[in-house]
Amino acid sequence: MVEEQKQKQQRFRETIQRQREKLPIYASKDELVAHIEQNETVIILGETGSGKTTQIPQFVYERMMTMKKENKNNNTEFESNFPPRKEKGTMVAVTQPRRVAAVSVAKRVSQEIGDGGKLGDLVGYGIRFDDCSSEQTRIKFFTDGMLLREALNDPLLSRYGAILVDEAHERTLQTDFLLGTLKAIQEKRRMNILEKDDDNDNNNNNNKRKKRKKRPPPPPLKLIIMSATLDASSFSDFFDACPIIYIKGRTFPVETYYLKEPEEDYIDAALCSVMQINEDEKDIKGDVLVFLTGQEEIESLGKLLTQRGKDTYPQLNVVLLFAAMPAEEQMKVFEETPKGTRKIVLATNIAETSLTIPGIRYVVDTGLTKMRTFKAKSGVEELKVVPIARSQATQRCGRAGREAPGKCYRLYTEDTMFSLAEQVVPELLRTNLAGVVLMLKAMGVNDVLTFPFIDKPSTEGLLRSLELLYSLGALDDKGELNKIGRQMSKFPLEPMACKCIIESRNQKCTEEIVAILAMLSTENVFVGRTIQVAKHKTGDHMTLLNLYADYSKVSRNGKKKWCNSHGVSFRAMNKAEKIKEQLSRSIGHIEDWDEDEEKDEEREGEEKEEKQEKENKSVRIRKALTAGFFMNAAKKESISDGSGGGSNSMFVTLIGGNRLFVHPSSTTFHKFSSRETAKEAVGISSSYIIFNELIRTNKLYARDVSVIEGEWLTEFGSRVFGTQR
Ligand code: CDP
Ligand code: MG
Repeated sequence: MVEEQKQKQQRFRETIQRQREKLPIYASKDELVAHIEQNETVIILGETGSGKTTQIPQFVYERMMTMKKENKNNNTEFESNFPPRKEKGTMVAVTQPRRVAAVSVAKRVSQEIGDGGKLGDLVGYGIRFDDCSSEQTRIKFFTDGMLLREALNDPLLSRYGAILVDEAHERTLQTDFLLGTLKAIQEKRRMNILEKDDDNDNNNNNNKRKKRKKRPPPPPLKLIIMSATLDASSFSDFFDACPIIYIKGRTFPVETYYLKEPEEDYIDAALCSVMQINEDEKDIKGDVLVFLTGQEEIESLGKLLTQRGKDTYPQLNVVLLFAAMPAEEQMKVFEETPKGTRKIVLATNIAETSLTIPGIRYVVDTGLTKMRTFKAKSGVEELKVVPIARSQATQRCGRAGREAPGKCYRLYTEDTMFSLAEQVVPELLRTNLAGVVLMLKAMGVNDVLTFPFIDKPSTEGLLRSLELLYSLGALDDKGELNKIGRQMSKFPLEPMACKCIIESRNQKCTEEIVAILAMLSTENVFVGRTIQVAKHKTGDHMTLLNLYADYSKVSRNGKKKWCNSHGVSFRAMNKAEKIKEQLSRSIGHIEDWDEDEEKDEEREGEEKEEKQEKENKSVRIRKALTAGFFMNAAKKESISDGSGGGSNSMFVTLIGGNRLFVHPSSTTFHKFSSRETAKEAVGISSSYIIFNELIRTNKLYARDVSVIEGEWLTEFGSRVFGTQR
């Protein structure tokens, strides 16, 4: 039996090895390794699916291991740029913009490397709220943001000998920020080594003693930037004209079809296209990949297709792929589809370049994507569905021609195609930079305007972020990080959310705030049509908290059932629970946290405490939320025509004056959607709300809304709303 198992494993390993050797990148292995060895930084360009992400980390690791061996045998200082030292610089980090990709690729590489270990041994990953690695881990996949966090604790990232920054073409905020940070680290590591050599030259005794105590500095840092699009000149310019290596891919021709007339309802258009492809290409084997914008529409189209696809030949085997999906389910897209069925993959732009799905011959492209945008003027961040860039359209199309000639159906006109922007605008240029600025300050980069950004964000945007941090109380009058700011930088959350945690200590509701933030960090808690959850009169935050509290009381075995019967996603709740644990742990790591609390208690005395006890818990909680999210406050617009029965009330944001409505998913929606005022509806004398997210569809909608008191805004947002003192 054991023998059989072993043989099976052996066969599996051989198959994987054969697959690896067939990848286009394998042919250039030696050349690649040589380039990496000779240069501190290289850029590698190659078609999606050529093997960059899964293979190059292994090449680099293998080379590092042989270097170490050679070094041991020769017993001489090895004259290579590869790090031979034992402790420092022995790990390889690979970064991905997306959590999904980091986990799934780590899994794949762990299988390929065939060390008999499991994920988390030799190969691991680290993403926000989830670390899967150990002392033995040598190849670790990260999201860019998580590697940046590591740089807060280890400013030289000295554990790493090589860092591979993947999917650099996506130009996400975190990737660009990481590239700037790594450039600075490379310089520092070079300097450190020079300094050490100076010490060596200087032969005086004093120095020698000092030197012996000093640990050796980490070796130079290898940087490998990987990208799928052909324009890499800006990266090369940024890294002192470093070499760009091209890997030839194999691609087959793809026929492209356009709509004759623009189509508003792209979900319906996608549905029709898939059915049509299945019908027209009945006798041809090949799976379909549909690009959509987000989880909700992926799930609804998934349902429609599953229903319709039962009676077709071939039958449709619908699989979904989006970021918020649990890892095991994501792996389903890589499974071969059963005979007599056609796999239909409904995906976000995850499938554009970061994951390659075998078997795809048809692509249906809606031409849209969801994008986070930020208006520096109004300070409001929005999640919006926008047209893709032409480079993305080309990438999507290419997915159809990886294994055989394919077809791509664009659900837009040819004119539209030519009106698309050529390249994606780097996120750095269109997003909220407050988190980045906070991190920079925490890393000791005080003058953030001088940080080497690959594309300089607007000075206005940077100043806005400094203003926000100042108004949150994270910076002192000189613009330097103060204690609150330092504490805030320890939480893996946006600065506004971090501030809520800080204030929660004063309001004695840290547990509750952490639970609410954890709930806000998961997606789509409510899944059922009828939601059996008591809605709190003050809005979504308290409702989420109550839901969390109820869920916590259910026994471990009963949780799934409880969720089903309450119209709540077990997956989301389970995730929220994990996130809450993680956040609580990061609070535990904050120095001075408890100490401060004790001091506060002494100062406040019993009198105040008593008063606080009396003060409604929901007041304290919403105060803590206001302390973080006061920038997202809006006031109800009085509508005087009196005829607005049934229509949703309009709000105007206090900063920026944006007009918005409460999203229908909010528990406050019904309160505000009649002629009743907020006062009558919720029994609270206020027409102010705070919210966590804005979405623009036909109108601007606020999600995750709570009613607050206007005076809290002057209390907690005194640096913005307060009178000049
Ligand atoms: O990074 P790049 O797009 O160049 O390629 P890759 O992600 O390294 O993928 C190389 C090959 O491995 C592709 O043919 C994928 O289909 C395959 N792969 C897989 O079968 N399962 C995974 N979990 C990841 C990759
Ligand atoms: Mg890749």
